[in-house]
Amino acid sequence: MAQVILSNFTLFADEKEIQKWRLFCTRPRGSNFRVLLVKLRDGNVEMKSKVYKIATEIMTGTGENLFNYIADCLAEFKKEQGLEGKDLPLGFTFSFPCRQNGLNSASLVTWTKGFSATGVVDQDVAKLLSEACKRRNVNLDIIAVVNDTTGTLMSCAHADSNCYVGLIIGTGTNACYMEALDEVELWNGDKGEPKQTIINMEWGAFGDDGSIEDIRTDFDRELDKITLNQGKQLYEKMISGMYLGEISRQAILKLAKEKLLFNGVVSAELQKPWAFESKFLTDIEKDVSTDGLVCREILRQLNCRDTMEDVTVVRAICSAVSTRAAKLVTAGLAAVIKKMGRKTLTIGVDGSLYKYHPRFHPLMDTFTRELVPEARVKYMLSEDGSGKGAALIAAVAVRLTGK
Ligand code: BGC
Repeated sequence: MAQVILSNFTLFADEKEIQKWRLFCTRPRGSNFRVLLVKLRDGNVEMKSKVYKIATEIMTGTGENLFNYIADCLAEFKKEQGLEGKDLPLGFTFSFPCRQNGLNSASLVTWTKGFSATGVVDQDVAKLLSEACKRRNVNLDIIAVVNDTTGTLMSCAHADSNCYVGLIIGTGTNACYMEALDEVELWNGDKGEPKQTIINMEWGAFGDDGSIEDIRTDFDRELDKITLNQGKQLYEKMISGMYLGEISRQAILKLAKEKLLFNGVVSAELQKPWAFESKFLTDIEKDVSTDGLVCREILRQLNCRDTMEDVTVVRAICSAVSTRAAKLVTAGLAAVIKKMGRKTLTIGVDGSLYKYHPRFHPLMDTFTRELVPEARVKYMLSEDGSGKGAALIAAVAVRLTGK
């Protein structure tokens, strides 16, 4: 039996938690991280987990505070599981762009998704966490630092050996895939068998060099202006859960200001950045009734005096924003599938938007068939895949090193 405790620093959106968020704000509120206790026995995976909230102040404060907070949560979790004092191996899912220096060392390249904690960029995040654990007297041995895409690929490949791509469509978006070493010009590591490696594409940054300017809209540009990482992660900002609600709000606001919605009355609530949450968009799309009651209720909360036509327009905006996101993700995947040249392939997927949005998966299926008709592609949802995968990696490493 391998026992792995894992701090999954994945920014997924927990539905119940989101419901508790206050409605109006001037920046997206907080984030979550998840701690999992994973037991592997005879190929079966048994998990216990707990979600911890990260307040915006911690996301944007000092790195020391952020890592202290994670260490405190790990201590609490260990205590609750009766594991106090036990020295456990830890797989750390860190869902941000990193330079991987080794299995248990990765330096943060830049923050994304509303984080800006100071003193972390260019630092080894495993070291920062390990120092925080020492400060808090938490016994943990960081065995692996893993991106969430890699974790998802690993956990899905554990269940389906035809899985070669890991995809996240949650608060942020990114994908990784298996690549032959000969194709990786920058590879200067071990050249022995198996001659392949996982490439974390960090595709959220696609377009930061200006290459997708022709498909960005004024709404995307307005959204970018109110983010902490302006001009960065432009592809991610057109796709992922953190941003779709705000893009929709920008479009609704413009039509209201042009007197094409709500009789030209623009409520104070509608003018607040981030007031239209991505969860609203998902809920509106889940409601297939002709009268659009859910949309109506949300507009009421935003103090927008709507007519039936307004409801129809707002629903159409939500639908256009999520359809565009699904098309863009599939376009990225189509390029990867063509590059890999496989006839059949499974793509492991994790992330709240993919999980909770009613049309995302069907839309991706349709667009995949259009863009790569020659390949048979299966999308495999992986609940907590990013965390489970990091635990698997840590468990294998422990077995190989005999620690
Ligand atoms: C990060 C990636 C991560 C993705 C999904 C992006 O903002 O740069 O490292 O995989 O979010 O969580």
